[in-house]
Amino acid sequence: MFGKATGLCAVFAATMLAAGSVALADDALLNEAKDYFKPIPSVVPAVKDNAVTHEKVELGKMLFFDPRLSSSALISCNTCHNLGMGGDDNLETSIGHGWQKGPRNAPTVLNAVFNIAQFWDGRAEDLKAQAKGPVQAGVEMASTPKRVETTLKSLPEYVERFTRAFSGEADPVNFDNMAKAIEAFEATLITPASRFDQFLEGNVAVLNDQEREGLQLFMDKGCASCHNGLNVGGNGYYPFGVVEKPGANILPANDKGRFAVTQTADEEYVFRAGPLRNIELTAPYFHSGMVWDLEQAVAIMGTAQLGEDLSGDEVKAITAFLKTLTGEMPTVTYPVLPVETADTPRPEA
Ligand code: HEM
Ligand code: HEM
Repeated sequence: MFGKATGLCAVFAATMLAAGSVALADDALLNEAKDYFKPIPSVVPAVKDNAVTHEKVELGKMLFFDPRLSSSALISCNTCHNLGMGGDDNLETSIGHGWQKGPRNAPTVLNAVFNIAQFWDGRAEDLKAQAKGPVQAGVEMASTPKRVETTLKSLPEYVERFTRAFSGEADPVNFDNMAKAIEAFEATLITPASRFDQFLEGNVAVLNDQEREGLQLFMDKGCASCHNGLNVGGNGYYPFGVVEKPGANILPANDKGRFAVTQTADEEYVFRAGPLRNIELTAPYFHSGMVWDLEQAVAIMGTAQLGEDLSGDEVKAITAFLKTLTGEMPTVTYPVLPVETADTPRPEA
């Protein structure tokens, strides 16, 4: 009887010891993770020089969904940044005006407000600078600031909404304010409360063993040296192929990344480290969009950026961790758009 009790005590003590060391390991993992990453806030962030007001957000949402910002009146921001599909188009490279295929994969607009700068090469300083690009790009929406202003001024509801959103301005319906309203709406497109965020907030048990192992590997192997911060990336520029350049199908020779922005020779093939929030929703991967499988993308990063052939189990664990970065999607009510008038420019092929 006595012996049995001692035995039970020993089992109990061993279990407690094991539980204690697991808790310690969990604490260490959490503390290390906190050094690299930050949770997505649950409130809309402020943006520079553009107060995010209710009026602007509602207007920006309409503009985001309005295909009349394109000359064909067929393509809206949401065509390539589909908010029902992770904020991108899930195509290798985007298709725009006249069915033209663009040169790059569309990144998600979700959490884009947290990126250091916009585009794969960071050539737009912020979202308001960015929003003017696609409207004018020949392969995207193929319009002009003048045509957009004429369109918006022909629609009385837009005139009213711009006047309210930019009150006090003499001529509020203009291209710059279009971009500011879109930026304000995009600032609301954040995805908090992913399982990883819950982990960072202290709920370590929310990640299973494989996901925790993946997180540990992500930090130990060096992924987190480039993919860190709020967006687990999107905050620094690095050569794609630091150690070994991937094949020309994945890294096409004619797209030299930041070189086109800075004209600095050592910025050839330098790109912004991809923000990895919601990455499981945004295949295909890389600026070329040539990789559909997340595990394959992880393995390519291993060889290209770290010079390391990750084992099958390591790739699986890191991928499992990356899937914990999927957050709560913003609720977006589809806007009703004003009907065209006699003054609205007609669609052009
Ligand atoms: C990049 C928003 C229209 C395709 C981006 C980014 C944002 C954005 C915020 C940068 C994201 C990042 O760097 O992480 C918008 C808005 C649009 C619009 C507000 C409407 C005014 C379109 C359309 C297409 C498109 C219609 C497709 C035809 C792309 C592509 C990129 C991109 C391919 C990456 C381009 C590069 O890095 O050079 N967009 N977009 N976008 N968008 Fe759009
Ligand atoms: C892109 C994961 C290590 C820099 C990506 C993408 C993934 C990823 C999934 C694709 C993002 C997308 O298409 O939206 C990883 C993992 C790593 C790792 C799991 C560790 C095994 C690194 C390191 C660096 C880096 C160490 C910097 C030296 C980049 C860059 C891109 C990228 C520049 C954009 C590539 C492009 O132009 O298409 N990473 N990464 N990554 N990563 Fe990593």
